[in-house]
Amino acid sequence: MLKLLQSLAGLVLLTFSREASAFLRFPCSQLVTERFDPLVTPGEVSPHLHQIVGGNAFNLTMDPANDLGDLSTCTTCRFVEDKSNYWTAVMYFKHSNGSYLRVPQMPNHNSGPGLQDGGMTIYYFQPTYEGDNVTFVSFPKGFRMRVGSPMRRTEDDIDPNDATTLHALTFRCFNGTDGGSGGATTGFGPEDSFEFPNRTCSGGIRSNIYFPQCWDGINLDSEDHMNHVSHPIGNFFDAPCPASHPIHVPFIFMEIVWDTRPFNEPPFWPADGSQPFVLSNGDPTGFGQHADYMFGWEGDSLHRAMDSCDNFDGIPTKCTALTVQDTDSMNRCKKGVQVIEVTEKQYIEKLPGCNPVQSGPDYATDIHNCDAPSTTVAEQVPTTSPELVVPPWPVCNPSPVSTFAAPFCDSIPQTTSASGTQPTIAPAIITTI
Ligand SMILES: *[C@@H]1O[C@H](CO)[C@@H](O)[C@H](O)[C@H]1NC(C)=O
Ligand SMILES: *[C@@H]1O[C@H](CO)[C@@H](O)[C@H](O)[C@H]1NC(C)=O
Ligand SMILES: *[C@@H]1O[C@H](CO)[C@@H](O)[C@H](O)[C@H]1NC(C)=O
Ligand SMILES: *[C@@H]1O[C@H](CO)[C@@H](O)[C@H](O)[C@H]1NC(C)=O
Ligand SMILES: *[C@@H]1O[C@H](CO)[C@@H](O)[C@H](O)[C@H]1NC(C)=O
Repeated sequence: MLKLLQSLAGLVLLTFSREASAFLRFPCSQLVTERFDPLVTPGEVSPHLHQIVGGNAFNLTMDPANDLGDLSTCTTCRFVEDKSNYWTAVMYFKHSNGSYLRVPQMPNHNSGPGLQDGGMTIYYFQPTYEGDNVTFVSFPKGFRMRVGSPMRRTEDDIDPNDATTLHALTFRCFNGTDGGSGGATTGFGPEDSFEFPNRTCSGGIRSNIYFPQCWDGINLDSEDHMNHVSHPIGNFFDAPCPASHPIHVPFIFMEIVWDTRPFNEPPFWPADGSQPFVLSNGDPTGFGQHADYMFGWEGDSLHRAMDSCDNFDGIPTKCTALTVQDTDSMNRCKKGVQVIEVTEKQYIEKLPGCNPVQSGPDYATDIHNCDAPSTTVAEQVPTTSPELVVPPWPVCNPSPVSTFAAPFCDSIPQTTSASGTQPTIAPAIITTI
């Protein structure tokens, strides 16, 4: 049942001075990949596989009354105060013989220094819209939300004038080391598409996901995990919120880079001209991309950062209201799996949760009579970490001259774990077809 925690929300709202226009951009490594979704299917094994980043209090069930900042003992994110959890579906390559292999992930442009193992890049913006009566608040404890629908397989039922819904979840097709977009807002560039790119992308594919930034000011969650929030009207930046959701909250954006480079040779591509990638929710179109967020910053740390970290380039070490950790420490924070099944690093015959590939355009349907594991084990089972992939672009700035959003390579001292994984160039996992 939906809980309306109006009084709680009212107590913890923090308002901001309008002069600040904060911007944070930081990497989070993989915490775990497993069929957990404490937002949509609390207490049950999720129908499909997710990659999760953030604090290690992530669990099958997460009560909104939990203080994730207190419960987590580590986080995979650059800022140690960020014990939130963020998760998305993962991408698989579908072999012509019907087997699936998880597509590895690689570090984003300027996500270092250091190579994160899997995960994503997270952005927080303080919305800058300056209209009348604009109220901007940080997230209250227990706040959570989702964007996108795992069942969607078309854009045809979205109003063509609804620019924010149409561009909230996109894929960028990277041409080599080029960051792409040519100055367009991410999601609107020539290399960005709502569906999977239908051509090979020599530098890999990046998911670009904008979360809603307008809130009803009352509900920490809603039945579909979306109705209590909304995108702004017309654009993602400098745009008004609708009257139904008048409160501006920190604007979260995430990027996930999929290393599709090993799958670019023509023999890996279906003869019918379709593309070979599917999301773990059985989606070969890409329209079913989705992401989830559970707020979990320690104390008032996000509020402090939004109030003071208005350096225009988002570089983590410039946000002195927060504490950074090095990439090895991020990579060492792990949760073990509790659903015992093979999901990655080898070909599997079915997608985890036995999701059939459903290409639409109708909404996908749930699967029954699935023989996949539906129970968890009590103790976490450690798994091997993702490989450290060296991306085709730099992850930090080696020059002494400051560059937008590019942390200096010596800006965070590295500690190297004794058992540290050594980087590989590109995973040489594909040898035969
Ligand atoms: C996860 O939830 C279980 C059951 O409620 C609890 O026993 C366990 O301590 C929790 N784990 C973490 C890391 O919070
Ligand atoms: C498909 O090919 C891959 C790579 O050669 C192999 O590992 C897998 O077992 C094959 N699957 C089937 C069903 O033959
Ligand atoms: C702003 O708030 C004031 C006072 O409540 C109200 O009179 C005014 O109409 C509001 N302006 C807008 C644009 O909503
Ligand atoms: C990709 O980049 C190369 C080298 O910069 C350029 O020649 C080519 O036109 C680009 N291809 C596309 C499709 O943009
Ligand atoms: C798919 O291919 C068509 C025809 O070549 C092209 O117009 C369209 O933009 C492509 N879509 C994506 C997402 O790449």
